[in-house]
Amino acid sequence: MTVSALIGMQWGDEGKGKIVDILAERADVVVRCQGGANAGHTVVLGSDVFALHLIPSGILRDGVICVIGNGVVVDPVRLDTELTGLQGRVADTTGRLFVSDRAHMVLPWHKIIDALAEGKLGASSIGTTKQGIGPTYIDKVKRCGIRWNQARNLDKFRARFRSALQDANNMIALLGGEPLPEQATEDEVLSCVAKLQPYITDTVAYLHNCVRDGKRVLLEGAQGTMLDVDFGTYPFVTSSNTTVGGCVTGSGLAPTMLRDVHGLLKAFTTRVGSGPFPTELDGPEADLLRGTGKNQWDEFGTTTGRPRRCGWLDLVVARHAARVNGINKIHITKLDILSQFDELKICTAYRIDGQETADFPADASELDKCEPVYETLPGWKCDLPACKTVSELPEAAANYVNRIASYLERDIASVSYGPGREQTAF
Ligand code: GDP
Ligand code: IMO
Ligand code: MG
Repeated sequence: MTVSALIGMQWGDEGKGKIVDILAERADVVVRCQGGANAGHTVVLGSDVFALHLIPSGILRDGVICVIGNGVVVDPVRLDTELTGLQGRVADTTGRLFVSDRAHMVLPWHKIIDALAEGKLGASSIGTTKQGIGPTYIDKVKRCGIRWNQARNLDKFRARFRSALQDANNMIALLGGEPLPEQATEDEVLSCVAKLQPYITDTVAYLHNCVRDGKRVLLEGAQGTMLDVDFGTYPFVTSSNTTVGGCVTGSGLAPTMLRDVHGLLKAFTTRVGSGPFPTELDGPEADLLRGTGKNQWDEFGTTTGRPRRCGWLDLVVARHAARVNGINKIHITKLDILSQFDELKICTAYRIDGQETADFPADASELDKCEPVYETLPGWKCDLPACKTVSELPEAAANYVNRIASYLERDIASVSYGPGREQTAF
């Protein structure tokens, strides 16, 4: 079997875009399976920087087919804008991008309801990306959502859209918001949907045929394990399964087809939005990890521009992720950022009410009082050399990488020391 998945092991933004782009050199098909335009996956090709939100990162490789699977919630306006932004920058997308006919549609009211619900939560808000992700998945589970197959017939779609817009405007009024203007909203959405009609496909049948024909399929996870609605820091999570199960239900491919599960681990920890973060730092160390915003890789959100919260590497989180996803290959990113420190800390356990544990607790209130137990490792304090193998890294950097491997009892497949394709040791 030639199906592999790639999953974030922390709270998102681990560098999935970069590693998908690298793995896509040996893939025929790249598939997004869950989430939506809340994702922001960056790929740097020379001086060109691509930020992908809905379109799989494989689009940057000529000849690679990209599929937006049934588990993704797809905003037609955002997708149209993203496609337009790629025109002339990547090989023609006609015939190599497919949108699942079973995927649910994110519509303008979902984004407004997302923002109004966040406003109502006040200080306890989740800090969502306001991309309408939660409200769209709510409609899906409530069994009243609009799926892309309904957009195949524009007249029927218009009727369905009008009645949903009326219901949504009633809901918006109840939440104290401004109702959407009916005609302008319909015109905007329908013009995008009409343009996107050719992409609508039965992607379940398509993907199974690809596998049968021996094509190599890569499932591109979005967000990260700790944002998973079951395994993450609930309720401060996203509304989908960001773990490997979501890759299966969100693509229609079967679990027995999976060969490798690649886990993405940033060399330190970041989180954007609210919720528990045991190894969070503030002050000068956090500022060094985050950067000032001058470099494209500094820790400011790709989707929202918000500064990301930063802290030391948390191996309790990483092991939780390795377990629930069955990760067998780990890719470490942003090791270069740690070159600034004399010494480095790695969290190996939590102390909660005097008890030590290395299992990730379910309860957000327990996490609030947990103290990280740290191991201190020496830093290397020099720029990392342009190397092709991990054995060429300075000794202290190789030690840091090896400590991660020994704690997780997993192989390290690659180490990144810069955003470019070539800044990767295997
Ligand atoms: P994703 O959501 O997991 O795809 O990650 P993002 O694109 O949101 O954030 C990762 C950022 O780190 C991007 O700006 C990447 O270009 C950058 N990046 C990836 N790997 C490395 C690395 O090894 N070193 C540095 N300095 N930047 C990296
Ligand atoms: P990528 O794929 C980092 C976070 C939001 C918020 C929570 C819920 O780029 O790694 P949502 O809009 O999904 O309802 O927000 O999840 N979040 C992300 N954080 N990277 C992402 O995606 C994220 N997608 C959602 O900040 O805390
Ligand atoms: Mg991101």
